[in-house]
Amino acid sequence: MTKELKSYRWRYATKKFDSNKKISKPNIELIKEAINLAPTSYGLQLFKVFIIENQEIKNQLKAASYSQSQISDASHIFIFCNKAKIDAADIDIYINNKSRIQNKPINEVQGYGDFLKSNLLKKEDNKIATWTTNQVYIALSHLMTFCASIKIDSCPIEGFEAKKYNEILKLSNQNLNASVVAAVGYRSSDDQSQYEKKIRKSFDELFETF
Ligand SMILES: Cc1cc2nc3c(=O)[nH]c(=O)nc-3n(C[C@H](O)[C@H](O)[C@H](O)COP(=O)(O)O)c2cc1C
Repeated sequence: MTKELKSYRWRYATKKFDSNKKISKPNIELIKEAINLAPTSYGLQLFKVFIIENQEIKNQLKAASYSQSQISDASHIFIFCNKAKIDAADIDIYINNKSRIQNKPINEVQGYGDFLKSNLLKKEDNKIATWTTNQVYIALSHLMTFCASIKIDSCPIEGFEAKKYNEILKLSNQNLNASVVAAVGYRSSDDQSQYEKKIRKSFDELFETF
């Protein structure tokens, strides 16, 4: 078995974190890089990730998450927030980064920016919101699989009231919407879920090859 699959098997949606164990700052930086390396449509990265380590804010978020203990007990809470709408500035950020990072004159990359603008800015806001939300899930997956590879536990969480999260983090006036959360830290030895067998479909149920 590959080491990657070993870590996929090791990962589980942690229900009870050890609140005394904190993720080191260098490991938080590695997790940020794993998220930043996630692929996104056109490379635009139309989301922002809030990282909460402050206990008071975690407690407020727990109250907006149906009291799920992972939110207060995990070392860090990553809140993935998609852009609710997009405008020309979102595309300019990408184009300016492309010019700077790849050392290309701006007029050489402007045409691609114009293409993206003509393609994307005419789309309805609700379609854009669905599209940006889908991409956040790829970033979430990067976080979880990377964390597992360095033996850090996580729990993906959709069980929360987005409206309340948006209020607590003052997101609406930033055109952002909390779409999915990851509680990240270290499992408690008395979290029974870690000892249970994974429930998965058989390959025959899940795959069909033609
Ligand atoms: C998008 C998403 C949202 C989830 N939301 C919650 C949640 O709110 N609370 C929770 O305890 N688990 C949540 N889970 C965890 C799933 O229940 C879990 O991943 C699934 O049962 C498979 O178990 P495993 O991850 O331990 O293999 C969520 C998982 C995903 C992918």
